[in-house]
Amino acid sequence: MSPLLEAEGLVLRFGALRALDDVRLSLWPGEVVAVVGESGSGKSSLLRALSGLVRPEAGRVLYRDAAGEALDVHALSEAARRRIARSEWGHMHQNPRDGLRMGVSAGANIGERLMAAGARHYGSIRAAAAEWMARVELDPARMDDPPRHFSGGMQQRLQIARCLVTRPRLVFMDEPTGGLDVSVQARLLDLIRALVEELGLAVLLVTHDIAAARLLAHRIVVMRQGRIVEEGLADRVLDDPQHAYTQLLVSSVLAA
Ligand SMILES: Nc1ncnc2c1ncn2[C@@H]1O[C@H](COP(=O)(O)OP(=O)(O)OP(=O)(O)O)[C@@H](O)[C@H]1O
Ligand SMILES: [Mg+2]
Repeated sequence: MSPLLEAEGLVLRFGALRALDDVRLSLWPGEVVAVVGESGSGKSSLLRALSGLVRPEAGRVLYRDAAGEALDVHALSEAARRRIARSEWGHMHQNPRDGLRMGVSAGANIGERLMAAGARHYGSIRAAAAEWMARVELDPARMDDPPRHFSGGMQQRLQIARCLVTRPRLVFMDEPTGGLDVSVQARLLDLIRALVEELGLAVLLVTHDIAAARLLAHRIVVMRQGRIVEEGLADRVLDDPQHAYTQLLVSSVLAA
């Protein structure tokens, strides 16, 4: 087996600031890796560099596609990158506004992804949208409501449906439970965990939330000031953190 995603030597600078400073990371098929670290440590930058949304100044990202070919993400044309993003990747954003179209119906938000992946039959697109709304515990009877009529937690569940309906192999999640009530977060995390297991997804999960990382991740990567300061199996990193910064991160959460 080879890694699904493999990055090395990633450098991304904003002026004098190094958002990514020589980052190396790999993700295996079916693996969930959580990227944790304080605000500004470079987590979102890493996700954006890995998924090709920003081009790093140095380094390389290889993605092994469904046909088994290793693609250099930053050497792909924009059209080729979008094609992969539509068919093999999913992207869940912290702010539903970035991941959903708020003005069109919930059903259309899901159906649109299927159509972008080539589905044409109206009846089966609508049926799949209804099925996925039920899977993420949204009432399919609200299929024609726009997401702006939904609560924050419902919008995040709709994002999950939109992102998973095309059965991606790899999902990028940036703070999927950010900004939600604790009780809503817990249910959403349970739902994500069940779907990830059922579909055998590989996930790169960016989160502030150590509890979310513990619940979902096989492996944890700790970032500080654009660098990975520690990585390892989730239980090991959380129960026996080696780096002083990880110790601080874990203990400050326990104390919170
Ligand atoms: N477009 C940009 N222009 C200038 N600086 C940026 C830009 N994007 C990110 N940065 C800087 O890069 C650093 C890393 O930012 P990034 O968004 O990756 O952090 P993060 O770990 O995701 O933080 P948070 O947890 O707050 O989302 C920060 O210092 C940020 O200010
Ligand atoms: Mg961020």
